Amino acid sequence: MLTKPEGAILDLDIAVPRHYVTHENLAIARGVEPEKYHAGLGCWEMSVCGPGEDVVTLAAGAAWRLLQRHPHLREKIGLCVVGTESGVDGAKPTAIYVHQLVNLPSTCRVFEIKHACYGATAALQMAQAWACMRPDRYALVIAADVARYKRYSSGEPTQGAGAVAMLVGQAQDQPVCLTLSDVSGTHAEEVYDFWRPNYQAAALVKGKFSVECYLKSLLAAHDDFYRQMGKSASLDAMDYALYHVPFPHMARKAHVHLLSHKGIVQEEEALADYQRRVKLSLWANRRVGNIYSASLYLALAGLWEREADTWSKKQVSLFSYGSGSCSEYFTACGGTRRPAFHLKTLLDQRVEVDVATYEALSDHALLMEQNDSIHSETIRGMVPFVFVGIRDHERTYEQQTVAEKEPVTVVAAPAGMGIHRELAPLAALGSSFCDR
Ligand code: HMG
Repeated sequence: MLTKPEGAILDLDIAVPRHYVTHENLAIARGVEPEKYHAGLGCWEMSVCGPGEDVVTLAAGAAWRLLQRHPHLREKIGLCVVGTESGVDGAKPTAIYVHQLVNLPSTCRVFEIKHACYGATAALQMAQAWACMRPDRYALVIAADVARYKRYSSGEPTQGAGAVAMLVGQAQDQPVCLTLSDVSGTHAEEVYDFWRPNYQAAALVKGKFSVECYLKSLLAAHDDFYRQMGKSASLDAMDYALYHVPFPHMARKAHVHLLSHKGIVQEEEALADYQRRVKLSLWANRRVGNIYSASLYLALAGLWEREADTWSKKQVSLFSYGSGSCSEYFTACGGTRRPAFHLKTLLDQRVEVDVATYEALSDHALLMEQNDSIHSETIRGMVPFVFVGIRDHERTYEQQTVAEKEPVTVVAAPAGMGIHRELAPLAALGSSFCDR
């Protein structure tokens, strides 16, 4: 009997910028009680892009780390899609830079998908369907974003930057991270909850309204999923529930809201359920911040690394929300591959900077985006690619050696810009899964 091919995330890897600022220091600098960011939002550290780091270097960096473990598959990659809302050009896709930097075959289909934080999920669903028709080919799906809100705005503590690259193919008989179900529930509705006009570097957001839109979409996409699956399918069958994580406590709000929709209204019971099925996935998001399209997949990476010993056959639900809006609710089943990306170590290797340096780094990164000039001194990132600037409207990327754990010394400023700082010394490295 012929069995239907199943699409799977075979493996994944992550890239983050070299620097982060703590929410404690950010709160103090903004005159806010740190508890608001810690207990109120669930945020502890926020990744910051500096000069030389952008969505392309992060996307290519995650893909490079992943392909280092699968060099024999490089020639079989027939689809490379980047889901991002931080694209660096109105026409030229982030994915074509990645294609060149990680040396993918010229026979590859290459493009970018944008729908706020939902883009990578659209890419993943498409890649899954594509892979099911091609047993001998693989897709590279990369979720990558740099989240920027105005300084001093309520969105500022929910920034971040990073990328998650996923290798997608048929499950067949190989070890996989997750086998994806081919049923999914969706919900689309035009709303102005969060958006970024072409003339703005930072997003505009109606914060509280965006939370309402997220929660409304969750119920609608979830109900659409269970309508298709029939009454026998139930949230109770899920071992873990993953959510899009603009800030970690949004995942808690979402889960409690969904449980209440299902009739579980006792706060104690709902919070115990959250502790059991959701909280374990949030530790990396607490340390990286919102990485828009990649946030859901960072939660997946965090959960997989943490639960690696018991991952096989675990049932996982995933909810993806993109402002604007489109959302999708789907399920997946844990496979037998073991994670090899060492996410906790990767995060521990970053360098903490103070708030003044975070501001200087992000100002400088933005100046590089907006000015036509090549920079000889950029920071050495955690991936082997660096954005050195724009000449005659063309972006230039270079290979570099990956930085080790010593503090970075110099941030060079474009002539006359007056930004030149020594970065703070290497922070004491954290050692837990950040279970706050
Ligand atoms: P805000 O006005 O700064 O904060 O906005 P708040 O006053 O609502 O407080 C936040 C929480 O902290 C509250 O808890 C307070 O009670 C608590 P809650 O009632 O929500 O449970 N709090 C404290 N707790 C302990 N000690 C204290 C204290 N003070 C207050 N001292 C908001 C918060 C999230 C709206 C803001 O940060 C924001 O606008 N963020 C950006 C938008 C966002 O993340 N929206 C999420 C849904 S939309 C989405 O996910 C899509 C998105 O990722 C974009 C895309 O799709 O591309 C954003």
